[in-house]
Amino acid sequence: MKVLITGGAGFVGSHLAEKYLERGDDVYIIDDLSTGTLENIKHLQEDENHRNKLFVTIDSILNHDIMLELVGTCDVILHMAAAVGVQYILDNPLLSIVTNIKGTEVVLELCNKFRKKVLIASTSEVYGKHTHAPLVETDNIIYGPSTKFRWSYAAAKLMDEFTALAYHRTKKLSVVIIRLFNTIGPRQTGRYGMVIPRFVQQALRNEAITVYGDGTQTRTFTYVGDVVGAITKLIECSDAIGDVTNIGGAEEITIGNLAERVKEITNSTSEIKFISYDEAYTKDFEDMQRRVPSIEKIEKLINWKPTTNLDDILNKVIDYCRVNE
Ligand SMILES: NC(=O)c1ccc[n+]([C@@H]2O[C@H](COP(=O)([O-])OP(=O)(O)OC[C@H]3O[C@@H](n4cnc5c(N)ncnc54)[C@H](O)[C@@H]3O)[C@@H](O)[C@H]2O)c1
Repeated sequence: MKVLITGGAGFVGSHLAEKYLERGDDVYIIDDLSTGTLENIKHLQEDENHRNKLFVTIDSILNHDIMLELVGTCDVILHMAAAVGVQYILDNPLLSIVTNIKGTEVVLELCNKFRKKVLIASTSEVYGKHTHAPLVETDNIIYGPSTKFRWSYAAAKLMDEFTALAYHRTKKLSVVIIRLFNTIGPRQTGRYGMVIPRFVQQALRNEAITVYGDGTQTRTFTYVGDVVGAITKLIECSDAIGDVTNIGGAEEITIGNLAERVKEITNSTSEIKFISYDEAYTKDFEDMQRRVPSIEKIEKLINWKPTTNLDDILNKVIDYCRVNE
């Protein structure tokens, strides 16, 4: 099978590329390296078992001609490319909206043209400001005002979901939409606001571990290997077509406790410092207090549950950062 992974030089995309190459598939990647890096796929390009089956194009998904060729060539499209990370979205508000709305439109239009199955990566951010748990795919959505730019990411991804569902309803296109909750593991960068790589890097350098807000906000974290396993199964599950499915973990932790855990596991002498959101970001920022997925649907669809616990994931990230930072 030929698999096109948009954003394949990114964190999740590079793990997907590895998985499909290991299965013996041909993997095509398009990435503009805006947040991804060739370092993420260098080991695949250098591996003699993989290098003849890996085809990398450095370009934008907004380049219609290139995308026409790639979508036409491949059997399945995994659309992971996006402007991501709170910091990146706040720093690049217009480009982020264009990438996340127009880019997905290009992907869907071409998948429809060539009748190719497509998976669209959406996000738990789509749920907005809920405080209840767990979040179910059919829940209502609550956002802050449009002057707070952090919501533009959620709104753009929501629009991607609507567009994909509209292609399914009107054109019978095979689309699978996933809402990823915080996914972590080696190769995720802390540069754009991702919390775990940032905490680990600070702890390893014995610098202050900076918790934004009062640290009572909670998250769940899922290992990228578990997520990739879910994606490869979901794209082959006929009951997932034309629908939205959460992928995430169930182990809820406050960000304050997460900082403590990272400090303990790394044996760091770092102090834990609390910084207000206004200081950390800008006035465009609002946080979500809680984000825990219901995984009832995915369990029913593909009998999936995350199997890697938080301490094991943290150890994998710490080992990676010790070697690569
Ligand atoms: N990692 C998470 O916790 C998480 C959570 C929710 C949703 N997601 C979604 O999963 C997908 C992958 O995220 P990730 O964590 O791997 O982030 P990432 O930044 O590592 O990956 C995104 C990739 O897309 C590429 N890209 C951006 N704009 C592009 C463009 N115009 N053309 C081509 N490539 C472009 C980037 O260079 C990068 O390699 C995204 O769609 C994201 O919204 C991730």
